[in-house]
Amino acid sequence: MDQIILKSQSQALVPLSTKPVIPDYLKKTYHWAYIDPTTVSWLDRGIIVWAILWGNSRRLMKSAFEEIKPGGRVLQAAYVYGDFSPNLARHVGENGQLDVIDIVPLQVENCRRRLKGLPQAKVRLADAAAPGGGPYDGICCYFLLHEMPHEKKVEVIRGLLDNVAPGGKAVFVDYHKPVRFHPLGGIMNLIWRKLEPFTMDLLETEISTLAGGDDAFTWSKQTFFGGLYQKVVATRR
Ligand SMILES: C[S@@+](CC[C@H](N)C(=O)[O-])C[C@H]1O[C@@H](n2cnc3c(N)ncnc32)[C@H](O)[C@@H]1O
Repeated sequence: MDQIILKSQSQALVPLSTKPVIPDYLKKTYHWAYIDPTTVSWLDRGIIVWAILWGNSRRLMKSAFEEIKPGGRVLQAAYVYGDFSPNLARHVGENGQLDVIDIVPLQVENCRRRLKGLPQAKVRLADAAAPGGGPYDGICCYFLLHEMPHEKKVEVIRGLLDNVAPGGKAVFVDYHKPVRFHPLGGIMNLIWRKLEPFTMDLLETEISTLAGGDDAFTWSKQTFFGGLYQKVVATRR
């Protein structure tokens, strides 16, 4: 296995045990969204995230941050377009530490640029299924699970939960099956089937079930916007 060492934003050296490779599901389904530099440069804007989430981006971000205590060690499981990462770094505060990981080098660079001037935040290349760096007081997994096949969802949830400190939380914010006759149900179904096919099993399966009903954690769930979105919180006992 390759050994790599990346320079973090603060220029400290962050050793990684293995060099992650971009997985096939990303290359095949999301090349246009996360790997192609020409599209990435205009997709990485708050207004785009706001539109994709039907105007709910602020509300969902705020709800995720409510679960994260300032001053702790926090992991963001993948880069999110717009101002999510700098806002999370500010929320964590100068007495805390935010580690952001992503599996695509271009996204690591994007995120590093966004986090300039926030010394509490570091960015490194890693697979969310094996994030390393734990234990963390808070882990934020924001709209990541719906972009991966079933088996990978299970691995990522496991990899993140294994890095939660006693009393700490993992927060998963993602799509959810909307209520019957939701006005956006039809268009969302079309988008998911055509562009985001791995969403479908997340609509049918509870995140706690994907975690194998791990009783080392207590689980809570809240839905938003007619059930189109969910926040699931796993708190280590
Ligand atoms: C958080 S998700 C979706 C976020 C949302 N669509 C947005 O940006 O507003 C997108 C990120 O997840 C990353 N990603 C996908 N699979 C990953 C994995 N196994 N480990 C770490 N990052 C991953 C992609 O490279 C991409 O930067």
